[in-house]
Amino acid sequence: MIEQREHAIKNGEPKTDDLLGLLMESNRRHAQERDHLQDASLTTEDVIEECKLFYFAGQETTSVLLTWTMIVLSMHPNWQDQARNEVLQVFGQSKPTFEGLSRLKIVTMIFYEVLRLYPPVVILLRQTYKEIKLGEFTFPRGVQLLLPIILLHHSREFWGEDA
Ligand code: HEM
Repeated sequence: MIEQREHAIKNGEPKTDDLLGLLMESNRRHAQERDHLQDASLTTEDVIEECKLFYFAGQETTSVLLTWTMIVLSMHPNWQDQARNEVLQVFGQSKPTFEGLSRLKIVTMIFYEVLRLYPPVVILLRQTYKEIKLGEFTFPRGVQLLLPIILLHHSREFWGEDA
């Protein structure tokens, strides 16, 4: 795809207005601005990796959140009614707009609660690149740290007895 698009750009065909097009355009401009000795532009391999990252980071997370939201709303018809009423109140029969989305208070509360209960990313991983002090602990270089988001989200200490 990248080669086809590079070919198309060389032939003066109009650019495609999507993520890959943006990455390639930014990369082309960046490469032109830097001198060749310290060229920090992306390779084709980098562009492919960036696209994969956006796909997994953006697609998986969002679809997991929406799936859990449908499940949880079906478990709690009372909240489903409140969410539906709010959407109808804010948008009526017209198409949703970005400005309107920020006025959806109940829907936002529901998303936050579903993200707390069923976070699409359940752990965060980090690795120390040098000796580092965290609170009362000192970790040497090369230690892997795992932050269990799912456990924090269900902690009674932070969220109360009905966590
Ligand atoms: C409900 C939706 C989402 C959730 C729960 C979510 C969650 C996260 C989390 C927890 C991280 C940090 C990972 C880490 O540092 O180890 C992250 C990073 C990232 N997310 Fe999302 N995300 C969501 C939606 C999206 C969307 C829609 C996009 C792009 C269209 C996106 C792109 C990214 C990227 C590029 C990173 C890496 C940032 C970096 O460290 O350079 N995410 N996301």
